[in-house]
Amino acid sequence: MKFNNLPIGIFDSGLGGLTVFKEIRKILPFEDLIYFGDTARVPYGNKSKETIIKYSSEILGFLTDKKIKIAIVACNTSSSLALDYLRKISPVPIFGVIEPGAQKAVEVSMNNISGRKIIAIIGTSATVKSGAYSKTIKEKAMLLYGVKKAEIVSISNIDFNGFNENLKIIEKSCPLFVPLVEEGFLNEEITKNVIKYYLASLIKEKPACLVLGCTHYPILKDFIEKEIGDNTEIIDSGVETARSVKNYLEKSEMLKSGTELGSETYFVSDDSERFKELGGKFLGRPIDNVYIVNFS
Ligand code: DGL
Repeated sequence: MKFNNLPIGIFDSGLGGLTVFKEIRKILPFEDLIYFGDTARVPYGNKSKETIIKYSSEILGFLTDKKIKIAIVACNTSSSLALDYLRKISPVPIFGVIEPGAQKAVEVSMNNISGRKIIAIIGTSATVKSGAYSKTIKEKAMLLYGVKKAEIVSISNIDFNGFNENLKIIEKSCPLFVPLVEEGFLNEEITKNVIKYYLASLIKEKPACLVLGCTHYPILKDFIEKEIGDNTEIIDSGVETARSVKNYLEKSEMLKSGTELGSETYFVSDDSERFKELGGKFLGRPIDNVYIVNFS
């Protein structure tokens, strides 16, 4: 098969990466896509760096064996902790979700008309602990906008006093969001209450934008948006990642040829029926072609 016509590989710890998959499909309708959801081992967000690297490397190996032209790590946790390693071992170009989301957050906050240069990020415990977003945002703000100082706050041990820096970055982990989504608790009162609970301290800060730093969170976007209010722009890393992947494929002349709609194949490490049911809800259409893979 011609190299350009090879599929794009996309993976996540579970269902969340489908939010990235959906965005990719929207703007790259002709590409063949292979998705891997590690449903047997989700969540990644409370696991160690070593474990996340091990799981992510296994999946990357599986996808590259299937012959793909690029890989997308549609998981913030894996992008935060494993991407550097994956880049070293990957035989194909590999993309994470942190960089595109961070780029957009910098643009939004620096151009905020009210002058609120405050960026909030929500993610899994592992993503927040890694500080990947803060580091990337800080670097970009310094490089692109000449920001001199960036105060980084982890909200678990927050001290808001004396803030007078050029940019404030607040990261907060929301560890209950992923299990709620994986359980399909999308419209339940309990989900709304958990969102309220986690966002309360962020709302007080009136951030210019809120980065959904976990690919599961866009599934709860309507509730999150309502809670955080109109003055805070929500940034979906999946949307930004899809844009930058499209850009890359165009620039490197790697787009698939032809105008036939792309195929979609899904692999999971457990319970394909459940994936079909919940995944179909997220994508808003039935999912077929789901296969189980066992890594043991
Ligand atoms: N959806 C993933 C992320 O973007 C991982 C969630 C998890 O497995 O904890 O971080």
